[in-house]
Amino acid sequence: MLEAIERVIFSPEEIQKRVAELGRQIAQDYKNSAAKDPYKRPLLVVGILKGAMPFMADLIRHMDIPLEYDFIAVSSYRNGTVPGEVRILKDLDRAIGQRDILIVEDIVDTGHTLRSILRRLASRDPASLRVCTLLDKPQRREVEVPIDYVGFVLPENVFVVGYGLDYAELYRNLPFIGVLKPEYIRASSC
Ligand code: PRP
Repeated sequence: MLEAIERVIFSPEEIQKRVAELGRQIAQDYKNSAAKDPYKRPLLVVGILKGAMPFMADLIRHMDIPLEYDFIAVSSYRNGTVPGEVRILKDLDRAIGQRDILIVEDIVDTGHTLRSILRRLASRDPASLRVCTLLDKPQRREVEVPIDYVGFVLPENVFVVGYGLDYAELYRNLPFIGVLKPEYIRASSC
């Protein structure tokens, strides 16, 4: 697969170092602010499928606090008729009333996906709702969204793959984040 990559933006070592820092910081923050009995009502980490999976798997292993995790799967109406809305394909397994919730994303781009998910979860009366994203692409933002933890801000408006991020469902298993060579991007998608 390496032949498809033009350049690496974040190496495996850079990613792992940053993810470890983030995990430790998040755990510390929840230790300081969490409910009195974190074993009774632990933090619920919510991954947004599919892109967040590798990041979340690494992140939680640096979080030394009691936690549960679950996933939401959404489908964006990217070229559809309802701009900014997302359809829930898989919802959370249980109610989240009075729970601390941490949403984990791989990337925040226009912000529409996150805004829609935040609105839905906020309406379910969580005790708190925070967001952690591995990548932030502020140049592309169309709607404002609150983000509590950011791994890396992308320094330029490039389309990246790897470590969960795909192009046509491929490249999610790369251990680094990089840019595809133009010849590996199908003309129909440009
Ligand atoms: C990606 C990413 C975010 C969303 C961000 O998901 O994982 O959920 O796009 O884009 P936005 O800020 O412009 O809404 P995608 O729909 O590509 O699905 P995937 O996670 O399965 O790759």
